[in-house]
Amino acid sequence: MIKCNIGLARKFIKDDAYFKARKKVDAAFEQLKTKSGPGSEWLGWRDILAGPNDAELEQVSALGSEIRKNADVFIVCGIGGSYLGAKAVIDALSSHFGSKGPEIIYAGHHIGGKYLEELLQYLKTPKDDGSSKNIYLNVISKSGSTLETALAFRMLRELLEDLYDEDASEHIICTTGKEGGVLNKVIKEKGYRKFVVPENVGGRFSVLTPVGLLPISVAGIDIRTLFYGAVSAYNKYDEDAEELLEYAALRNAIHESGKTIDVFATFEPELSSMGGWIQQLLGESEGKEGKGIFPAVATFSTDLHSLGQFIQQGKRSLMETFIIVDKPFSKLAVNELKEDDDKLNYLAGKSFHEINTKAREGTIEAHSEGDVPIVKVQMTALNAESIGQLIYFFELMTGIFVYSLGINPFNQPGVEDYKKAMYRLLGK
Ligand code: PA5
Repeated sequence: MIKCNIGLARKFIKDDAYFKARKKVDAAFEQLKTKSGPGSEWLGWRDILAGPNDAELEQVSALGSEIRKNADVFIVCGIGGSYLGAKAVIDALSSHFGSKGPEIIYAGHHIGGKYLEELLQYLKTPKDDGSSKNIYLNVISKSGSTLETALAFRMLRELLEDLYDEDASEHIICTTGKEGGVLNKVIKEKGYRKFVVPENVGGRFSVLTPVGLLPISVAGIDIRTLFYGAVSAYNKYDEDAEELLEYAALRNAIHESGKTIDVFATFEPELSSMGGWIQQLLGESEGKEGKGIFPAVATFSTDLHSLGQFIQQGKRSLMETFIIVDKPFSKLAVNELKEDDDKLNYLAGKSFHEINTKAREGTIEAHSEGDVPIVKVQMTALNAESIGQLIYFFELMTGIFVYSLGINPFNQPGVEDYKKAMYRLLGK
């Protein structure tokens, strides 16, 4: 199970401020459990774990295996909560190079014309043996009307319809709301296969629905283990959420103290995209009404050579949350060189995991001495079960923390503003 330790941050908060924050957090957890807070009609991300839909898990898994077997390329077409969760899990649990199974490509997550043009060209280009690529497309949009996704889908489905003619519907799978939205009309007309995003689950909380589960399954990850990892976390935290509540209270007190940034840092490059998912989950949930702690993301030690200077000595406006994996997932060790011309023999025989761990411990020590409050969120190993637990840990912490600020975590009214301006400029 996930461990969370606020020990290094606690000294930055006076007792009375911390206990005041803790009271707010306890009340927020109660609001969440009793569905009495604002936006409580969006708490389906807890309901799906309280009563798992095994039949749907089977169905998604079966389709995932079918696509994995047949496809050369699988396109995940979605933006925000409609793709970040899947990407986070896939990147965390897949090989960096030469993964088996279809190549997974993301689209519909921006409006970059060069990217889409090159993608369309790439899809049309035959494989080395001269045969055509077998392409599957999963468009994911709960509203069924998000411009970035809809535009990419329009271009991609035209290509698939050209390539497969009447069989195109075999290659296109749609994940969207039960009804409404332009996408549902297209699905009806064309007979595309469809998965439903539960009404009461918002985009950024939807990774454990078909939104995230189908792409994750296509990547060859056991979605049942992932899902039931989250179920085990759900059961645990409804019994005992002490460490999670301490973290939420600490964040609340840090927020009240005027700090404005939380850097989500990991020393595991596999978890970089998980940082992106956490960033969206927290960012869209807490950044309202002039409140919130800006969620920044860093992958160390890479970003110690870019953000490290600021974190160590810049404006003291930040805290850091380290996401740590205890168990090594590689045994690679430093080789011994006879000539030792690079003077690295002092590390010979040590594993990269050991060296990375020392880099992390040293960084935590230095940043702590640089007056950065640090929280450690720790997984024992990197696998589907622990990732499922981590997902629920952050979903629950987000819900509780944002309620403790007195705001609705589950809407995103500010996102509409850019859309309104953009549509006006586009003459819609
Ligand atoms: O968390 C959210 O609700 C948003 O980030 C959405 O996921 C994002 O805007 C995409 O929306 P849709 O799935 O309706 O295309």
